[in-house]
Amino acid sequence: MATATQAVPLTEHVSKYVAKTRQMLINGKWVDAASGKTFPTYNPATGDVLANVAEGDKEDINRAVTAARHAFDNGPWRKLSPGERARMIWKLADLVEKHAEEFAQLESLDNGKPLTIARVADLPGTIEMFRYMAGWATKIEGNTIPLVLQGGGKFLAYTLREPVGVVGQIIPWNFPLLMAAWKLAPALATGCCVVLKPAEQTPLTALLLGELVQEAGIPDGVVNIVPGYGETAGAALAAHDKVDKVAFTGSTEVGKLILKAAAGNLKKVSLELGGKSPNLVFNDADIDATIPGAAMAIFFNHGQCCCAGSRLYVEDKQFDKVVDGVSQLASKIRIGNGLDPSTDMGPLVSEEQLNRVCGYLESGYHEGAKAAVGGKRHGAKGYFVEPTVLVNTNEKMKVVREEIFGPVVTATPFKNIDDLVAKANDTEYGLAAGVWTKDIAKAHHVASMLRAGSVWINCYNVFDPALPFGGYKQSGWGREMGHEVLELYTEVKSVCTPIA
Ligand code: NAI
Ligand code: MG
Repeated sequence: MATATQAVPLTEHVSKYVAKTRQMLINGKWVDAASGKTFPTYNPATGDVLANVAEGDKEDINRAVTAARHAFDNGPWRKLSPGERARMIWKLADLVEKHAEEFAQLESLDNGKPLTIARVADLPGTIEMFRYMAGWATKIEGNTIPLVLQGGGKFLAYTLREPVGVVGQIIPWNFPLLMAAWKLAPALATGCCVVLKPAEQTPLTALLLGELVQEAGIPDGVVNIVPGYGETAGAALAAHDKVDKVAFTGSTEVGKLILKAAAGNLKKVSLELGGKSPNLVFNDADIDATIPGAAMAIFFNHGQCCCAGSRLYVEDKQFDKVVDGVSQLASKIRIGNGLDPSTDMGPLVSEEQLNRVCGYLESGYHEGAKAAVGGKRHGAKGYFVEPTVLVNTNEKMKVVREEIFGPVVTATPFKNIDDLVAKANDTEYGLAAGVWTKDIAKAHHVASMLRAGSVWINCYNVFDPALPFGGYKQSGWGREMGHEVLELYTEVKSVCTPIA
């Protein structure tokens, strides 16, 4: 695992952006926290403070919700035609595209991910999410309904699909800008107003996006962005009784807290939570394609993906070959500062995540697992962890059962398909799964048996704004993206009247 060293120079805009204390966006104005407090965000490649950011808490959330409420109940937003909304969302996409390099650099600095990856994954995903949802703004329809009971009279009955209202959105740090887009784009398309709370580890790109929201002409108060900690700002947003819906992406543990907080006013809740996704390799798979696929399934974004293929199950005849192949690829991954164009893998996002992932490695060794490659922290500065393949694992181990959220995959052999499907589904999660085989019937049979919201056959981590994404079981409630997401951001109203 070589260490990369050369860094791409920052654009002038990015250098200036991080040099200034960043404020929060409330009602179309950039303001300090009511308390005057700020908090630091760190560069995880060095552990140094990257920028200081206004620290929102309950009072700021209150101000932002009041602004969003006003924008929804009385502002110009609701009076705009769907076409006008669509054009604003499309313009926002164009503006993000225009500033793509700045976003990619900021994301790399704040999150640690390679700039090269931010450019080809996070940014196109963000831009296309806005464009895809801009298209939906003009296509949100109800139905006409023939009534069954009203035999004598004639009724005209129809449904309207209306915006759910003020939405609180709480997002994580693994894809900071992309997660902001997954949340904001459908809310704007459906005509909702938003209070967005970015993760405290990575607030910068969401705040820069806020500037472009204004430039796109989206009215004041429609999008409010309040950076701050989860226990204060996040909790206040989830509990706020003037919020109609909360959309959350993050840990299953906090997802449950959000649910409890939402109970006060029974706001609608959608959750995109953790995973421990099985990646299943059969003897008849195209092994040359499977090996890089299985490596990417876990090592992409340093394993900090809710859908990471973190449990690799390989049919017995191919087990050694696949483990060796994935391990060899892991050993060639260049670890380094995300701004170095030769870096394949940057640091984990924070010291907390470094300790969490290293803690899991220790627990794995304690329970008898062995590292076929990697297996420890990389270097002494920054939050780097070696890409790791754990063998000698069994389903009782914590490393097999719990979400590690780092570049660590467990590899386990299997003998027959029934045993495999039972093992694959033996988890409290149900976010994603991979199936690698040339046998088409087997692939679709296994896909049908897996209790997971996404199944990738002979591929992994394929995302598209048109493809719904979300979890079974404790991986969440609801589906983001695709037309399914419209259901999360709308209410259905039935209207009927006698017409004869
Ligand atoms: P987290 O769930 O605590 O944080 C995610 C978001 O929730 C952040 O914006 C945070 O400020 C907010 N938050 C935290 N506590 C809150 C509360 N009580 N009320 C309202 N909002 C709150 O995740 P964390 O601590 O950063 O990471 C811990 C683990 O969570 C990771 O190791 C990973 O297993 C999982 N995770 C899963 C993600 C996913 O994409 N599904 C993303 C991030 C973390
Ligand atoms: Mg947390």
